[in-house]
Amino acid sequence: MNSFYAECLDCGNQFHYDPHILKCPRCQSQWSEARYDLATLASVLPARFAARSFDLWRYRELLPVYEYHPSSSMGEGGTPLIHAVNLGMMLGCPNIFIKDERQGPTNSFKDRQAAVGVASLKEAGILEAVLASTGNVAISYSAYAARAGIKLWAFLTSLVPAEKMREVAIYGTQVVKVTASYDQAKLVAAEFARQRGLCLERGARTIPSVEAMKTIAYEIVEQITTQFDTEQRPAHSLPPPWRAPDWYFQSVSGGLGPLGVQKGFSELHAMGLIDKLPAIACIQAEGCAPMVHAWKQGKEVAEPIQSPRTYITTLATGDPGRTYTLLQQRMKAGGGGFFESVSDEETFRAIHILAKMEGVSVEPAAAVAFAGLIKAVRAGHIRPTETVVVNCTGHTMPVEKHVLGEGWARNVVLSAQTMAETPEEGLLAALSRVTADRFPRVAIVDDTPDARILIRRILQSQGEYTIFEAIDGRQAIELANREPLDLMILDLMMPEVDGFGVLDSLKANPQNAHIPVIVVTAKELTPDEKERLRGRIHSLMQKGEFMNDELADEIRALLK
Ligand SMILES: Cc1ncc(COP(=O)(O)O)c(C=O)c1O
Ligand SMILES: [Zn+2]
Repeated sequence: MNSFYAECLDCGNQFHYDPHILKCPRCQSQWSEARYDLATLASVLPARFAARSFDLWRYRELLPVYEYHPSSSMGEGGTPLIHAVNLGMMLGCPNIFIKDERQGPTNSFKDRQAAVGVASLKEAGILEAVLASTGNVAISYSAYAARAGIKLWAFLTSLVPAEKMREVAIYGTQVVKVTASYDQAKLVAAEFARQRGLCLERGARTIPSVEAMKTIAYEIVEQITTQFDTEQRPAHSLPPPWRAPDWYFQSVSGGLGPLGVQKGFSELHAMGLIDKLPAIACIQAEGCAPMVHAWKQGKEVAEPIQSPRTYITTLATGDPGRTYTLLQQRMKAGGGGFFESVSDEETFRAIHILAKMEGVSVEPAAAVAFAGLIKAVRAGHIRPTETVVVNCTGHTMPVEKHVLGEGWARNVVLSAQTMAETPEEGLLAALSRVTADRFPRVAIVDDTPDARILIRRILQSQGEYTIFEAIDGRQAIELANREPLDLMILDLMMPEVDGFGVLDSLKANPQNAHIPVIVVTAKELTPDEKERLRGRIHSLMQKGEFMNDELADEIRALLK
C-alpha cells in the first residue's frame, strides 16, 4: 500500500487523496499536490529502482496510486534517451539528447498521464470520465480507458486534425466535436461533466496528471548518469548518485508537462539524489504564446489569447490560467530557464532537420521544442559544454480514413455571439443536443467479473446505455423486479439460480416477460437445454466466439 497525501497549495491543508475529492476540504481551493515521505524514501529508493524494469512504474512509491496493478500497464514510460550527435554537431553543442516520448503506447508523452490517471480512476471505482483535449490526451486516455473498462467522453475542438480525431474514435471513446476554441471546448466538457456528475480530467489540478509527468525527470537523470558514468569521480567525494542535465526543453500548451517535470527534478533534489536543478525552457507556438508574452513582460499571470493563430493546434491553449503562474514561480525559485516562442515555419523546418539528421520524425507540436532549441543556441543562451535534454513529445500514427467510415462524432457548435451574450445558456443549449435524456437500460448478468467488464466495455464503446450489473441469478431477478429494463444480457452457468432459472422467473412475471434477453454463455448446450431456451430468448452467443461488433449489433438492433 503506497503512502502519500494531498496538500492544498493555498492553505497548506493536508488530506487523504481520492479522485472524487475535487477541492480542499478546508478552503475549497481546487489546487493541491501530492506529497510523499521523501526523507525516508531517499535512502531506499535508488536500490529498489535499480532492481525493477525501466518503465514508469519503477517509481511507483512516488506515484499517487495506492496499489500497483501491473496488469493495466502497456509499457508506458521508460522511453529511450537518444544522443543527437548530428544535430549537436550542427549546433556546436555536442551534448544534446532526445527523450523519445514517441515510443509510448500511443506515441506521445501523454501516455504517462493517461496510464497513471486511469489507474487512479480504476482504483477509485470510477467507470465514466470526461476530458477536453487538443488531441493527444484524448488518444492516450482512450487507449487506457478501453483496457480499464472506463467509458470516456472526449470533447475535441473542431481544429483537431481529423487523423487524431479518428484515432480517438477507434478506441470506442464518445467523441464530441466542439466548433470553438480549445478553451471553450474545456468549458463545454466541464459543464457536461457537472450536469452528469462525471469525473473530469482537470490538467494541472488533477494530481495523477502532474505526478505522471514527473517520471520524465526521474528517467532523464538515471539515463544521463549512465551516459556520463564513464567519467571518473574523485574517490574522496561522496557525490549524489545521479546527474541532472543543464537544460530541459519542452513544447508547451497548457504547461502540465513542464510543471510535472519540474516537480520531479525538485523532489530528486530534495532527496539529495541530484545536486542541482536544471534550467527549463518552455517553448510555445508564436500564434498562441500567452506564457511567452507574460514572461517577457515580467507578469505573474498570463493574459489569455482569444483566437490562436497557428497551424499547430495541439499547442493552442489560449488560457493557461494558474499553471503559468506556478510554473514561472518554480522556475525562478529553482534552476531558472525561460519562455520563448517559435513560428510555424521555424517549427516545420525543425521537423525536416530532425528527420533528416537524426532519423526522428515528429509531429509539429513536438518539433516546437526543437525549433526553440535551435533559436536558443543561435541566441547564445546555451553554452557548448552544457547538457541539453529535449522532450520529443510525440508523433501520432493516424487511423486511415476508410477504417472508420462516417458518423463517429457528435457535434456541438458554439457561436461567438451566444457565448459573448449568455455564456451559461449558450453552453446549456449547445450541450442539450449531445445526448438524449433517457438511455436504454441494460442489465449484465454474469458471475465472472471479467465477463461483466468485457460486456460493459462493449456497451460503453458503442453508445449510451444505463448499465446495471448482477453477479448471480438471484440479484438478476431482484434487479428486474426493481428497475424497468430494456434488455438483459444473461449468462447461463451461475451458482444457485442459473440463467435458466432467471428466464423462468422473468417469463412468469407479466411485468418482466417482455424484457428481451441475449444469452451469452461459455456452455456447450445440450439439445434439451436448447429446447428450454427456444422462443424465450432473443439470441444466443457463445463466449469466446463472438466478436464484440456482433454483440453490439444485436443490442443496437434490439433497442432501436
Ligand atoms: C505532442 C505534444 N507536445 C506538447 C504538448 C504540450 O503539453 P503541455 O503544455 O500540456 O505539457 C502537447 C499537449 O497536448 C502535445 O500533445
Ligand atoms: Zn486549502
